[in-house]
Amino acid sequence: MKKILYISSEAFPLIKTGGLGDVAGSLPPALLKLGLDVRLLLPAYPDVIKNIKQSKIRGQCSYYNQTVNIIETRMPGTKLTVWLIDCPAVFDRPGGPYTDHHGEDWHDNAFRFSIFCHAAVDIALNKLSLDWQPDIVHCNDWQTGLVPALLSLQPVRPASIFTIHNLAYQGVFDQQTFTDLKLPEQLWSMEGLEFYNQLSFIKGGLVYADKINTVSPNYAREILQQNFGYGLDGLLNKRKDDLSGILNGIDHKHWNPGSDNLIAHKYNRHSLAKKSLNKTALQQQLELPVDENIPMLGMVSRLVEQKGLPIIVQNLTALLKMPLQIVILGTGETHYEIELSGWAQKHPQQMKVIIGYSEELAHKIEAASDIYLMPSNFEPCGLNQLYSLRYGTLPVVTNVGGLADTVNTVSESTTEIDHADGFMVKQPSAAALLQTLKFALKLYQNRASWRQLQLNAMSKDFSWQSSATHYLHLYQQALQKK
Ligand code: ADP
Ligand code: GLC
Repeated sequence: MKKILYISSEAFPLIKTGGLGDVAGSLPPALLKLGLDVRLLLPAYPDVIKNIKQSKIRGQCSYYNQTVNIIETRMPGTKLTVWLIDCPAVFDRPGGPYTDHHGEDWHDNAFRFSIFCHAAVDIALNKLSLDWQPDIVHCNDWQTGLVPALLSLQPVRPASIFTIHNLAYQGVFDQQTFTDLKLPEQLWSMEGLEFYNQLSFIKGGLVYADKINTVSPNYAREILQQNFGYGLDGLLNKRKDDLSGILNGIDHKHWNPGSDNLIAHKYNRHSLAKKSLNKTALQQQLELPVDENIPMLGMVSRLVEQKGLPIIVQNLTALLKMPLQIVILGTGETHYEIELSGWAQKHPQQMKVIIGYSEELAHKIEAASDIYLMPSNFEPCGLNQLYSLRYGTLPVVTNVGGLADTVNTVSESTTEIDHADGFMVKQPSAAALLQTLKFALKLYQNRASWRQLQLNAMSKDFSWQSSATHYLHLYQQALQKK
């Protein structure tokens, strides 16, 4: 049985800020079901400690004079063993995994995730008396980027995989940080961790991992181009033969309208009429006029440019003149939080904006809305459009990344709906978004067509099983390569 050390900076339900949390919480259990021996490695943030039941200390080590305990626990509701890197000096503090209460990056992020990576490397080399030697280490995003780099210096080592969930976040720090972290000199070069005289954590993954993948086939192609490559397209082109795309799945245990305990009324394809009860329940909860026939546009998102906030905001004047309601839940850049909240205050009968993080409200919005807004600039995979499809909430998406791979658009010219399940905005412009939304709202009035689109959406299968099998093949390729 192959042994996989899955390394992530977040994993639901222990800790989550976005889609990486969803993936790291559901892919490892899916791999376990395929018969692999998987262990998940996470930092021991206070929220994680709060969310675990039983635990024991399995080992101790020290980096940069900081003591680190390895705590063993289980992922709630699964058989997955989780090892927590418990270093109170860097992980035991109030705030988020990456940012403080004001949304500013922790000043010592390089130090925090360097400790995490050093501990991961020692576990990967079975140096911490855990009596377990992985065949593969599977790293995710920049926070884990030093692992493949440090492992590459070892004469005997496991194979490594690096998954890019978002190339825009790279973990770049000044050159002095490289010195302060006492990283091996041979890693400092243009062909190594150096990125225009700075230290790049993500390059550790992109340069040194045996295989690299992204979370959708389309994004794997896009990042080879300058406009999606964030300065790393040259390197990625060099590594093209080792780069692939595997679409994320969704966890049907948590995201299934038929069994979702967080929503007011459960429903499925055969009881679709009950979906609108979720709309009226949310309208009551948020003090919006209760009307099951008014179209509701929903969004649950990080409030950042990536998610198409500029073109949404530009269309609010036009949209709020139409008979519709808008519900947005999110946190992110302060100016978007203020701007959206301002619009909601001015239009309390039509628009609600909830600034904050709420798993419960996220599910309620998915179940209540008719249309889901996701006109992203770029989208490595995107999970919310997948949840929306599952909940019969038709997504309005741009033609990028995983959105293009997962949504079948209704063609405006033919209004062909045989296989369609959403709406594609042709260009990422405010005018194009408005045009698509107007078309969607018109189609909403045709109940039979809308219902057909919903049934198409809800029949789609994005379960983890197929994606996990693709990862199994990638692991085999990585072992062969090494
Ligand atoms: P990304 O990872 O780029 O943020 P994804 O679509 O892959 O985008 O995943 C986002 C995940 O985070 C989804 O599960 C979504 O429901 C969740 N999410 C984002 N913002 C919030 C919020 N404010 N409250 C609750 N869940 C949120
Ligand atoms: C990132 C991406 C998102 C993806 C998620 C999980 O946060 O922005 O598109 O779905 O990671 O892979």
